[in-house]
Amino acid sequence: MGLLALLLLCLSLLFSLSSGEISQTLGVCYGTLGNNLQSLSKSVQLIKGLNAKRVKIYNADPEILEALKGTNLQVSIMVPNELLSNISKNQTLADVWVRSNVAPFIPAVKIQYLLVGNEILSSSDEVTHISLVPAMHRIRASVKAMGFKKIKIGTPLSMDVLESSFPPSNGTFRAEFSGRIMKPLLQFLNRTKSFFFLDVYTFFPWASDPVNIKLEYALMSATNITYIDPGTGLTYTNLLDQMLDAVVYAMKRVGFPDIRLFIAETGWPNGGDIDQIGANIYNSATFNRNIIKKLTAKPAVGTPARPGIALPANIFALYNENKKTGPGTERHFGLLYPNGSNIYPIDLSGKMPESEYQLLPMPTNNEPYKGKIWCVVAEDANRTDLGSALGYACGQGNGTCDPIRPGGKCYRPNSLVRLASYAFSSYWAQFRKVGGTCYFNGLAVQTTKDPSYGSCKVPSITL
Ligand SMILES: *[C@@H]1O[C@H](CO)[C@@H](O)[C@H](O)[C@H]1NC(C)=O
Ligand SMILES: *[C@@H]1O[C@H](CO)[C@@H](O)[C@H](O)[C@H]1NC(C)=O
Ligand SMILES: *[C@@H]1O[C@H](CO)[C@@H](O)[C@H](O)[C@H]1NC(C)=O
Ligand SMILES: *[C@@H]1O[C@H](CO)[C@@H](O)[C@H](O)[C@H]1NC(C)=O
Ligand SMILES: *[C@@H]1O[C@H](CO)[C@@H](O)[C@H](O)[C@H]1NC(C)=O
Ligand SMILES: *[C@@H]1O[C@H](CO)[C@@H](O)[C@H](O)[C@H]1NC(C)=O
Ligand SMILES: *[C@@H]1O[C@H](CO)[C@@H](O)[C@H](O)[C@H]1NC(C)=O
Ligand SMILES: *[C@@H]1O[C@H](CO)[C@@H](O)[C@H](O)[C@H]1NC(C)=O
Repeated sequence: MGLLALLLLCLSLLFSLSSGEISQTLGVCYGTLGNNLQSLSKSVQLIKGLNAKRVKIYNADPEILEALKGTNLQVSIMVPNELLSNISKNQTLADVWVRSNVAPFIPAVKIQYLLVGNEILSSSDEVTHISLVPAMHRIRASVKAMGFKKIKIGTPLSMDVLESSFPPSNGTFRAEFSGRIMKPLLQFLNRTKSFFFLDVYTFFPWASDPVNIKLEYALMSATNITYIDPGTGLTYTNLLDQMLDAVVYAMKRVGFPDIRLFIAETGWPNGGDIDQIGANIYNSATFNRNIIKKLTAKPAVGTPARPGIALPANIFALYNENKKTGPGTERHFGLLYPNGSNIYPIDLSGKMPESEYQLLPMPTNNEPYKGKIWCVVAEDANRTDLGSALGYACGQGNGTCDPIRPGGKCYRPNSLVRLASYAFSSYWAQFRKVGGTCYFNGLAVQTTKDPSYGSCKVPSITL
């Protein structure tokens, strides 16, 4: 073999090794907050059917890990938030946790990442904040002591750890975290050659400012919109790159320019409530297909600040999960319906030709809804649960349920559904502006159809 050939062989080996470690592959987040989801073994089949190479689960559920045995999927599991404080103070506890939740599944399950807590710095719980990095150290010590050399330790954070993210070169960690938590965290990640795990959704900044941020820019399908960062002169063509680079510059600002990013979660909701903009199948398919195309491209595309650097990622989520709380979008992030059917054709390996993508239903909510909305009892609401939900709603706010009390304008006909619809609407009309949702554990839905009757006028919100 010639010297040049040998050199080339070495180079390509080196390249394949390093790109193997930070491979351009996508995974899916397997959330299980639904009461109508497929069995664990069927779910694992469905994950493989999407051509996912990785899967992230939200706890160390032994039954899920059992179902993942023998698959080639690279698995991320989470240490529950509630345990961080105790683990940070107690090495024995860390050892016990790893020994009982991780060890039994190695090597049959390819456990690759242990994520300590979930979006810890987004909570207001100071005690967990300061426990985060010490807990990561303890978990790593346990993992090392047990000889699991391949497992990396990280923690997923969301964009709210930044105080400033625009322009990207202005990216800065929030002052209360910067020195106290981010620096030791980054030191840990840098020293252990782990990743900065980031939950990053272009949907949220776009939805809160759809006038100034163009939808195509957030969906990564703009061909004619660019933004030049005045600080660096770098040209941005989509919002995702901007958000990722804001984190890159924030890390650089505190002295860690080289820590790799791992997109722990990204995605776009395929549905939501009437008062939510842009959550639909068309946009969800567009965003997810675009990000798959970008992140599976070879050679790697990277971001303007880190051209050519691979970005591993997980799409959130496997299923639409009907038991998630909060606004409707939260229950509509799936690639699949609960029955296991695709919501739209998608292939996480990026190999499906675009010609195989069928026509999608055109979006009807890319503009904000204008008009009145009421919050009424959902068609399939469990009648037994309605009573206590009504009681809860009536107990909030000022005079919320006066009109449905005896003698009130809405007292008759006193059907439970009518009374509860009044209570839900009245509650929501008072509390929406401070974050109250029209949900009531799935008993309530938004409607544009006025439920008022006779002289009973049901309160509404007006957009
Ligand atoms: C943490 O440890 C304390 C004291 O040992 C114990 O009382 C508590 O239940 C533990 N918390 C959790 C979430 O395990
Ligand atoms: C540390 O954790 C172990 C295992 O759970 C427990 O037995 C022990 O009491 C804990 N130590 C302290 C000081 O809480
Ligand atoms: C940069 O971030 C700071 C806050 O960290 C903010 O006050 C400033 O307006 C930002 N600069 C630009 C150009 O947006
Ligand atoms: C980060 O890690 C690299 C490579 O191990 C090392 O050269 C560098 O000094 C580290 N940076 C900091 C700020 O610790
Ligand atoms: C970009 O192109 C789209 C479709 O071709 C067009 O609707 C839009 O107005 C263009 N935007 C800008 C900023 O030129
Ligand atoms: C699965 O559920 C979706 C949404 O409810 C429905 O449109 C589809 O027909 C169902 N598929 C099967 C195979 O039942
Ligand atoms: C309705 O809820 C009650 C109690 O919350 C439960 O016992 C019952 O099984 C539910 N009914 C249906 C049809 O789901
Ligand atoms: C109820 O009334 C009090 C006193 O007038 C007021 O401070 C409070 O904000 C009201 N609450 C709601 C939900 O409107």
